[in-house]
Amino acid sequence: MERLDKVLGSQGAGTRRELQERIRRGAVTVDGRIVRRPETKIDPENARITLDGAPFVYRKYVYLMMNKAPGLLCATRDPEAPTVLTGLPETILRRGVFPAGRLDRDSVGLLLITDDGDTAHLLLSPSRHVKKTYFIRYDGTLDADAAGRFAEGIRIDGDELCLPAELVLLGDGEARVTVTEGRYHQVKRMIAAAGGTVTFLRRERFGPLVLDETLAEGGWRELYEDEIAQIREITRKTRG
Ligand code: URA
Repeated sequence: MERLDKVLGSQGAGTRRELQERIRRGAVTVDGRIVRRPETKIDPENARITLDGAPFVYRKYVYLMMNKAPGLLCATRDPEAPTVLTGLPETILRRGVFPAGRLDRDSVGLLLITDDGDTAHLLLSPSRHVKKTYFIRYDGTLDADAAGRFAEGIRIDGDELCLPAELVLLGDGEARVTVTEGRYHQVKRMIAAAGGTVTFLRRERFGPLVLDETLAEGGWRELYEDEIAQIREITRKTRG
């Protein structure tokens, strides 16, 4: 059971103070009755709440799939550059969402944005080996045995040994790379180690999530229930 004002605040409905005012003015009903005490304890998962007459849908966490646009920073804030959170609705921002993982500023594609810290942490944990697949374009000619070197674990920047990864050459300077780690500039450095220079990089898959092709660059949508179930499933085994 949780305080009514806290429950509403956790959903980005307003500041705690504003919400307390609105509750006192009679703007909120719980299970069909006006509740005027902000401290009233309710069960957020089961209570039927209305706010200003409209049904209020409680969600413990929010999960967004974004098709990141180039030029955006994967950060929650930056004094100069726009971030992947710039332009998201206030109701979502007030929940304290953050990007789960990083894409470089010039990279595009699938990014998960959430306020579920536990799930994000598990998805990004090196020990989970969650697969990430990238479509890339590159300049130069990759070594003849590049795919073999990726499969064995390519050495980048002289000493860092990567875990086995998959490189599928698509022809015309295009390829698909699947890795299970999240090293800094990993794909660009792997391709550089094999003789090429990445000129374009789009993340297409992150664990069970597949980039929604209908999302324009910069676009986002909430994850569907089955997608949420899938990410919870792959993180389930390590939950306490
Ligand atoms: N690897 C990179 O080099 N850049 C990205 O943005 C993601 C993976």
